Amino acid sequence: MTEEAHRDVSATPRDAGPASPGSRVEPVGVARMREFGTTIFATMSALAVRTNSVNLGQGFPDTDGPPEMLEAAAQALRSGRNQYPPGPGIPELRAAVAAHQQRFYNLAYDPDGEILITAGATEAIAASILGLCEPGDEVVAFEPFYDSYGACVALAQARLRPVTLRPGPDGRYAFDPDELRHAYSARTRVVLLNSPHNPTGKVFTADELSLIASLCQEYDAIAVTDEVYEHLVFSDSSSVHCPIATLPGMRERTLRVSSAGKTFSCTGWKVGWVSGPAALVQAVTRVKQFLTYVNAAPLQPAVAVALGLPDTYYTEFAASLERKRDQLMAGLVEAGFAPYRPEGTYFITADIRGLGGTDGVEFCLSLPERCGVVAIPAQVFYADASRGRHIVRFTFCKRDEVLAEAVARLRRLAEPASGEASPGLSWSA
Ligand SMILES: Cc1ncc(COP(=O)(O)O)c(C=O)c1O
Repeated sequence: MTEEAHRDVSATPRDAGPASPGSRVEPVGVARMREFGTTIFATMSALAVRTNSVNLGQGFPDTDGPPEMLEAAAQALRSGRNQYPPGPGIPELRAAVAAHQQRFYNLAYDPDGEILITAGATEAIAASILGLCEPGDEVVAFEPFYDSYGACVALAQARLRPVTLRPGPDGRYAFDPDELRHAYSARTRVVLLNSPHNPTGKVFTADELSLIASLCQEYDAIAVTDEVYEHLVFSDSSSVHCPIATLPGMRERTLRVSSAGKTFSCTGWKVGWVSGPAALVQAVTRVKQFLTYVNAAPLQPAVAVALGLPDTYYTEFAASLERKRDQLMAGLVEAGFAPYRPEGTYFITADIRGLGGTDGVEFCLSLPERCGVVAIPAQVFYADASRGRHIVRFTFCKRDEVLAEAVARLRRLAEPASGEASPGLSWSA
């Protein structure tokens, strides 16, 4: 990974505190984590609050999840389910996770031994990488990638082998099959596959999954799949969501990760899970038990209830996000961006060059002042920031009126400069 990866945009000289004369600033903390700084999401969310901007940066919904789930959580809180749950997670949640995978993908996992409940998908991914990789092992991941991946690989003292997703003439992101082949080696231990993919909104196609699967088998690698957006695939997607674990020969070499946060609009609950063959899940458990041991006792039964909601919940949820996507896509085009239409997830990536932008970090830091909207510079999701310098990411998992306000504000970018100061920053999103 290059020095630029995941750089802390808050740690610019402008923000650095005053150095006392004669003092030498010693770096604190382990060398392998120094490049990571504060996550971009915390930095940009703080900027949104400070500038009273509409926050289309961090991917969290501004409405609560299904009422049945909220009621179950309240009941669990009141009925004494407030102590440590069992290490692997409560039996009813593990059973619900198993039933959900059987129902949607015809994948069978034994709730006793093949499913582990974790503190969000983030912990499941961290414990998987730490539990599987020796120092020097290699992890193949498609960039741009979710920011925790690089940090987990660094913590494990493993080596990241990024494969770049690039938008094609049809606006869909894809990878070069040869680049993928070259990324695999005798040291490949894990391929970290996120589909539907943040930040591009890509849903990996059947052909792409087959190639990844065959390389995993050829190089004896394990697929760790991040499927947190599994239910957010839109009607015009060229592919349905297909867990790679369903492909021949892959169930035995896949750890399937997902969580409640995105599917049930409860990102703050941090209830996730990992499913796979018992030996692999055991390797993850060995690490997980010393990270958090357990979490979210009263929320676990509530997520079990949510997983059992009828199909209409899932289809209506995806349809409502698709309408929001369309609303923001239109607004971004009108404002002068060149957005790439996502096939799933919460996010739109957009090229800023039509607006004269060349550097996403500078662009995103200036956006609150220019129009009162916060976005995320996509370059922080690349191992080599230069590959994503001209791209920024917006989320659309917000109430319609918040999106409408954001679109109205973004429109100012397309207006000729009027000499007016920043817009009325009275909106709190
Ligand atoms: C691709 C991806 N993986 C994992 C996560 C985190 O999931 P959780 O909140 O369940 O830890 C996110 C959250 O934004 C994400 O976008």
